[in-house]
Amino acid sequence: MKVPDYIAGLKAYVPGKPIEELEREYGIASPVKLASNENALGPSPKAVEAIREALRDLHRYPDGYSFRLREKLAEKLSVSEEEIVFGNGSNEIIELLARTFLRPGDEVVMPAPSFLMYEIMVQASGARPVKVPLKGLHVDLEGLASRLTPATRMVFVNNPNNPTGTVISRTQFEQFLKMIPADVLVVVDEAYAEFVRDPHCARGLDYLHGDNEVVILRTFSKAYGLAGLRIGYGVMQKAVADVMNRVRQPFNVNSLAQIGALAALNDTAFFQETIRLVHQELDRLYAEMDRLGLAYLPSQANFFLIDVGIDARVVFENMLRKGVIVRAMTAYGYPTYIRITVGLPKENRRFVKALEEILNP
Ligand SMILES: Cc1ncc(COP(=O)(O)O)c(C=O)c1O
Repeated sequence: MKVPDYIAGLKAYVPGKPIEELEREYGIASPVKLASNENALGPSPKAVEAIREALRDLHRYPDGYSFRLREKLAEKLSVSEEEIVFGNGSNEIIELLARTFLRPGDEVVMPAPSFLMYEIMVQASGARPVKVPLKGLHVDLEGLASRLTPATRMVFVNNPNNPTGTVISRTQFEQFLKMIPADVLVVVDEAYAEFVRDPHCARGLDYLHGDNEVVILRTFSKAYGLAGLRIGYGVMQKAVADVMNRVRQPFNVNSLAQIGALAALNDTAFFQETIRLVHQELDRLYAEMDRLGLAYLPSQANFFLIDVGIDARVVFENMLRKGVIVRAMTAYGYPTYIRITVGLPKENRRFVKALEEILNP
């Protein structure tokens, strides 16, 4: 077997610890997972109902064009139907971008730390990830622009940024776009856009038809509660979508995902309750961190960073023993930070209690 160097050098993505694994390894009955930025309320009930109805058609191949979902989404976003590419999670759109536009020798500029899949997918295509450190925990847009070379094909920004939850303002984004050549794809990952409260936050869709080639990534995994179904999408100019559609597998989005996503889009009550809960619980958790005297980074997403002041891995391990799964940010370069996803009120209370017991035994 001959493996290309850039594949041999890949580091596999490490997902948040699954609940079943904790149950198996630690014998804990009902653990709480606050590690993967999922929706604490579960899936949209309307999606579940629609999927149940659709099960009898599982012998059919899916609609390769996701027609009904596409129609609804295009209307909701005020974009044309040809400007949307659906994927098996927005992760697949990241992969498709890399497979479609990158080859060995190309460069892709991205913030670090940010979502690790950018780096993995870019490297898997033989191109070179150019990582630009955050500046004071914010995406450094000038830094990103300063690393462009003639080999740069793409630049990623994540707004809000995972793991920091910080956002880029419209003014900052507009200045940034002016520094980026028109043939460099600007990929704006908005996996958490629905949770943003900051009125100044840039929205990629406002720049879809500007001078730059902008690709906006969105997902049904977070605010719509469908992470297990695997469906996300990219919005881009038609010419960009056309080439990606040639690379895309015809049935990359399964039929239940299409049906579930469409029903979730129509489930306004669930969506609004999700956003309300996240905002309410973020504020409660901030107050709890103030009470414990811990520094944290206020976030525009459904997760936030806490500086626990000691080795985050120790807190992570001790939390597991208490049945709470969080993320240690050690591998992201923040050895005393943990990231937690906002859970249900009772889950958040359990997390605070566990954290208090660990830090003040
Ligand atoms: C910033 C960011 N982008 C994309 C994704 C992937 O989402 P999907 O489930 O749509 O593949 C995630 C998931 O955690 C994320 O944090």
